[in-house]
Amino acid sequence: MKQVLICMLALALVACKKDLPVAYVAYDQTPYALIMPQGRGWTQFPIPEENPLTIAGVALGKQLFEEKLLSANNTQSCKTCHQPAFAFSDGGKQFSEGINGQKGNRNAPALFNLAWADLYNVTGHRYFWDGGKGSLEQQAVGPIVNPIEMASDLKQMIQKLQQTSHYPALFKKAFGTDSITISLVVKALSQFERTLISGNSPYDKAERRERQRTLSEYNGMVIFSTEKGDCFHCHGNLSSPFFTDFNFHNNGLDETPIDSGLFRITGIAADKGKFKTPSLRNLVFTAPYMHDGRFKTLWEVIEFYNSGFKNSPTLDPFISKHIANGGLNLTPIEKTDLYNFLVSLSDSDFVTKNR
Ligand code: HEC
Ligand code: HEC
Repeated sequence: MKQVLICMLALALVACKKDLPVAYVAYDQTPYALIMPQGRGWTQFPIPEENPLTIAGVALGKQLFEEKLLSANNTQSCKTCHQPAFAFSDGGKQFSEGINGQKGNRNAPALFNLAWADLYNVTGHRYFWDGGKGSLEQQAVGPIVNPIEMASDLKQMIQKLQQTSHYPALFKKAFGTDSITISLVVKALSQFERTLISGNSPYDKAERRERQRTLSEYNGMVIFSTEKGDCFHCHGNLSSPFFTDFNFHNNGLDETPIDSGLFRITGIAADKGKFKTPSLRNLVFTAPYMHDGRFKTLWEVIEFYNSGFKNSPTLDPFISKHIANGGLNLTPIEKTDLYNFLVSLSDSDFVTKNR
């Protein structure tokens, strides 16, 4: 009898919650506790004062990230192109398709550890391959209105959310108002994106002495972090857990870049062909590689750095210094070691946890 009563009470509460008029939904500012990976270098990133992380805000952000109403014809969400199972990249596609079947010319990047750009990139060129956006809040409007992505009219998109039975209450809970605005939509999306933290790969476990590195991984790590491979100059030395310097370089993909990269944003000739250094975490899930997804496998990438890079006026000195020797001259075993080290940076917890 007691159980039945509790059950009925629970049912009443659920029903009650569902039908609660927005006026009775409480603003819930309970902070969201970020869980930082164990290990060195995982310092707290800055969080904008006007957009603190809250449990309600992050939950709303996740729901909006998966919300197809954000696109003009209700067929696409952020998640369509940034799929959790692929570390939030686009499922192996070279170029994503927008709602009208049109394709862009850049590979959809994985989304994780994004917020540290705000700490380590002081230039303000932080997001997109060419650094065109300075903050996550600024970035998030882009795809919603981009004609070859979600192609929405902001006013109509907001209206659609406002007319649903659930979003006004969720905004009330997260931000204290049921009057939905684009500023609140991007705030929620950004809160969610700041929680996408990946730091539990076999590499991290080895760093924490929870497993032993294989000899091949160890040898690959030495190639990565010494002049032999020179990867660390741009993808970060091992005291940093991010495997990117959050900066822009020309790594020698083309003699004459088709896509001018950072130059498109700054107009400075020295920035031609410079792109954001991507993190080397989660590569197992994020093929194909480079801003235009030109390489299908990591073996192709390794061979590119070993012998295939192209000279140009803005080629980075850490690449051009190897021209005299005709490349890195890695032996087949050394290439395998580098491959095994790169693979050890992939965090399967991250892709399962966020599904
Ligand atoms: C049609 C596919 C598509 C959709 C939908 C999409 N994106 Fe993207 N996203 C991309 C592509 C492609 C890029 C790279 C663009 C560039 O660099 O020029 C990108 C870049 C990004 C970046 C920059 C990451 C970095 O490391 O610089 C973020 C953050 C992001 N998207 C978040 C979102 C959010 C939030 C949404 C939903 C509001 C969304 N995306 C919807 C394809 C998409
Ligand atoms: C001069 C700086 C620099 C050096 C040195 C460098 N990289 Fe890169 N790396 C970059 C940049 C910049 C990109 C993105 C280029 C683009 O897409 O246009 C990149 C892209 C990559 C990618 C593709 C990742 C993705 O998600 O698409 C991999 C893998 C990679 N580098 C591995 C390495 C390895 C291994 C080494 C050492 C052998 C190395 N890099 C050396 C700057 C560098």
